[in-house]
Amino acid sequence: MVSRIVLREETLDPAFLPSELPHRDELVRWARERYDKAFAAGIPHHLLITGSVGSGKTTVARRLAADLVAQGRRQPVPVTQVYVNCWRRSADRVVLLDLLREFGVSLPDRGYSISEMLDVFQQGLSKSRSHVLIILDEVTALLRTGTKLLYTLSRSREVGLGNLSLLLIAPQDVLPLMDPGTRSGFGVTHQVRLPPYDRDALRDILLARADLALAPGALSRDTAEQLAEAAAPSGDARLALELLSGAAHHAEERGAQRISAEDVRSAKASIYPSPSDLTLEGLPVHSLLVLLALNRVLASGGSEASTDRIRKTYEAVAEEYGTPARSRVSFWRILKELERYGLVGIRKTGVPGEPAWVGQNEVPVSQLTLVLEERLARKPRQIP
Ligand SMILES: Nc1ncnc2c1ncn2[C@@H]1O[C@H](COP(=O)(O)OP(=O)(O)OP(=O)(O)O)[C@@H](O)[C@H]1O
Ligand SMILES: [Mg+2]
Repeated sequence: MVSRIVLREETLDPAFLPSELPHRDELVRWARERYDKAFAAGIPHHLLITGSVGSGKTTVARRLAADLVAQGRRQPVPVTQVYVNCWRRSADRVVLLDLLREFGVSLPDRGYSISEMLDVFQQGLSKSRSHVLIILDEVTALLRTGTKLLYTLSRSREVGLGNLSLLLIAPQDVLPLMDPGTRSGFGVTHQVRLPPYDRDALRDILLARADLALAPGALSRDTAEQLAEAAAPSGDARLALELLSGAAHHAEERGAQRISAEDVRSAKASIYPSPSDLTLEGLPVHSLLVLLALNRVLASGGSEASTDRIRKTYEAVAEEYGTPARSRVSFWRILKELERYGLVGIRKTGVPGEPAWVGQNEVPVSQLTLVLEERLARKPRQIP
């Protein structure tokens, strides 16, 4: 019987919008209150969200907008949201056409001036009797064109356009790209910078998503930690979820009930190119032996092994290859070197006297073991 691990595939899709966002819920609540207050008073409110790739900018904006729209249904003035990704729409005219389409007005691409289009937009706004929240994602692209539209939208009341608020999204601070008039709407209290997710945050996001997407128990906390560790250098939740999806499908193909450490490595190896033969080529024999020892320990399961256990295995592996094992200090130096090459990860427990833990999330253990054994077979056996 084929095991089923992925029960709700759609919740692993990048377009899926979770109702709860670990480590960003507080921010969504804060922003919602700010917009709410402004909407209740019938005034616009603007916010700029910045942050690195996969830090949750678009998701936070979409969650916030969806919550405001849902809440607006119970208010005298409802809320409508319009989402425009400016990356492929980096011209005032194209953005305006998109906004008009939201009000059911389909104008031809040519033949109307910007101010005529704004007139039609204004009519649409006043007819809709709602407060419109416009999300301009990847707004940097629009700002680089020297947009005039952003100024008009940010001053909607003053220019008599109607009831609208902005939510801008960009990877970096885009204030320097704004003209002073637009910039004044985005003072310090109107900007939020999302930090990259750290390992713990990524683990929480993964566990929450596994609850939605996978069979109960398919993702253990340890494996979630391993996935988080693999994605942590980028701080990118998209990458973490992509790894989760890859590992879950890998486990499913094996007919397993749970995602293993090896499934995670396979997922990572299919996303990233494996460490090139070149990296291994440059490594001294004892580095290869230590790496082989680590992989032999990991082959029995788990995402990490203690340095004590790896060292014992290293001694046995060195003997197998007919060379005396290096000293404890050299062993440690080799591990640090492998870490520098990105071939292993070292985690210290912080407790004095306790061994550190070493993991290898780059390549499936089975695959790397084969490559290492093949390389070592080609090296001369007796190494001074
Ligand atoms: N706090 C979170 N909880 C759950 N899922 C999250 C969270 N943050 C991000 N994600 C998920 O991670 C993925 C990437 O998030 P998102 O698209 O919002 O990042 P971004 O900052 O807009 O990235 P980019 O700069 O590439 O546009 C999405 O699939 C989203 O569902
Ligand atoms: Mg985005």
